[in-house]
Amino acid sequence: MSDKIDAVLHEERSIAPPTDFARSARYSAEQYRELYAQSLADPDTFWSKAADELHWFRRWDQVLDWQEPHARWFVNGQTNMAYNALDRHVQAGRGDKRAIVWEGEDGEVRTYTYAELLREVQRAANVLESLGVKAGDRVTVYLPLIPEVVISLLACARIGATHSVVFAGFSVSALADRIENAQSRLLITADAGYRRGAQVPLKANADRAAESAPSLQQMLVVARAGAAVEMEPGRDVWWHEAMAQAGTEHQAVPLDSEHPLFVLYTSGSTGKPKGILHTTGGYMVSLHLTTGAVFDLKDDDLLWCTADVGWVTGHSYTVYGPLLNGATVMIYEGAPNQPDWGRYWDIIQRHKVSILYTAPTAIRSFMRAGDEIPERFDLSSLRLIGSVGEPINPEAWMWYRRVIGGDRCPVIDTWWQTETGSIMLTTLPGAFPSKPGTAGLPMFGVDPAIVTRDGEEVGPGEGGLLVLRRPWPSMLRTVYGDDDRYRKTYWGEIPHVYFAGDGARRDSDGYITVMGRVDDVLNVSGHRLGTMEIESALVSHPAVAEAAVVGRPDDVKGECVVAFVLPQVGHTVDPAELRQHVAREIGALARPDAIYVADALPKTRSGKIMRRFLRQVAAGQQITGDTSTLEDPSVLERLQTTPAQ
Ligand code: WT7
Repeated sequence: MSDKIDAVLHEERSIAPPTDFARSARYSAEQYRELYAQSLADPDTFWSKAADELHWFRRWDQVLDWQEPHARWFVNGQTNMAYNALDRHVQAGRGDKRAIVWEGEDGEVRTYTYAELLREVQRAANVLESLGVKAGDRVTVYLPLIPEVVISLLACARIGATHSVVFAGFSVSALADRIENAQSRLLITADAGYRRGAQVPLKANADRAAESAPSLQQMLVVARAGAAVEMEPGRDVWWHEAMAQAGTEHQAVPLDSEHPLFVLYTSGSTGKPKGILHTTGGYMVSLHLTTGAVFDLKDDDLLWCTADVGWVTGHSYTVYGPLLNGATVMIYEGAPNQPDWGRYWDIIQRHKVSILYTAPTAIRSFMRAGDEIPERFDLSSLRLIGSVGEPINPEAWMWYRRVIGGDRCPVIDTWWQTETGSIMLTTLPGAFPSKPGTAGLPMFGVDPAIVTRDGEEVGPGEGGLLVLRRPWPSMLRTVYGDDDRYRKTYWGEIPHVYFAGDGARRDSDGYITVMGRVDDVLNVSGHRLGTMEIESALVSHPAVAEAAVVGRPDDVKGECVVAFVLPQVGHTVDPAELRQHVAREIGALARPDAIYVADALPKTRSGKIMRRFLRQVAAGQQITGDTSTLEDPSVLERLQTTPAQ
């Protein structure tokens, strides 16, 4: 195991919640314990109460219908996500409250009140309908982090179209695969996006993706960057032109609680990304509840979740969770080091951000850039800081608390996944002491256990596999178009429980530490990448005969991609070109950090690649473990003297 995990295992610090914070916190330890116990003992009462805080056009008949592994929550209830996120607040007289404070990478600032955002969403819903989009249709969204991405999601939700957001950093072929898999009829994109000052040609990418995505009939194009693009008559429509013609009145459509809200693709241990399907009612109730509880939301908070809306964190804690709670969100379009590593602190100081939610990889980059950068800014508006996406090493945690949180803000480490939809494990701020590097206790209704492969629970302090023993409202409902994969991956590995794919341990206080993936999934800068996905990209290059990809611990990214490739006979491998090739096939985030050009891979006699040894080679470690099952143990010796490129 890496040094970082080792450090977590030996971490024994426990930091009491600050008294001031605790005094006005939503939950005390006793309240949490009582509610948590109720959520397990009497889930019907617990979840009915949580759901009753939202608007339903028709109330449900039954809280949960569980036919393992399929759940239906709030059965026969009818509701609308956008109505609950917008209309509900405007009707209650909160229309003048700010919903979004957006800052572009170039410094432009735009704000939307709830009333303004509602108007834009109503307009956009009318635009979608005028383009023929109906409830149940899929709409792919390939946009930079601009207000239109939020408007697009809510407009889809308003009419019952299922959105599928593809991160704007993904390549043409990744985009085409996702449009095709979802059978989307409409794509919402922009002329171009900004990243570190440079333009990303989104529309040109979309045009190329459309060539291999026949389901696609229309494109709605936001003019973001003034880039020259080709508009195909009859297929492409400018967002601003369509919006200018659209009416600002639109009735939210009552939708069944199980109506598909969104599909979001994520990597698994096979080559093809999975479309994780989330539905309306349960996801909405979980997001409303967890955002309020975990972030201890107050009416005057400015919540900044730094994730792009291309990832689940952005869906849940930039868009849906905060807006359901009537909160104000900060959104920043660009990179954390644009123009320099002070950008986040400058944003916090100028806009008075009170809650910051970011990823360990970002925290480690800030740490590396030096304390003197954040120290130049006034960060006293912050009152709570959070972390998500990968294990956070105690050193980074302590730095975050001290330098960013001024030793005053509680730090919450939150464990969850694209599949879980909402936060599953954390230490409620103000209620419990936190332990650096440890997510903590289960959220309401979450029933975790640490088990062996056979499903036997392990004792306190022992490592095992993290499972969830009962369904929860925001759980994924299936893998889009592949229910069999859903059953096998999540409910088939360990009998009758949800298998998360992570290794974890629980201490004697019940705090759970999640240590990382136990499958062939890498976590690079908080983003999930399947090793097989990268391997398929590598072997699709004519010079590569065979490839194996492993992760290597990295001080900033958590983990980085290392590839071992065998050249095709008669070809030479150019590492720089191969990196480019992977970026083109998947996206820049999958680009290998190191490439070993090898003459053989360590395989068992039955032909299975022993990745364990490759991980050791990649990390420059001694080879340990039984090498006797290898067909040719000398392969390892040769690999150890092969330079990484
Ligand atoms: C995987 C899920 C959840 C939003 C962002 C990532 C890892 C996530 C933590 C944490 C340790 C974590 C797990 C998980 N992970 N949060 N607090 N501590 N590991 O969503 O892309 O679906 O990735 O991220 O390995 O399985 P995702």
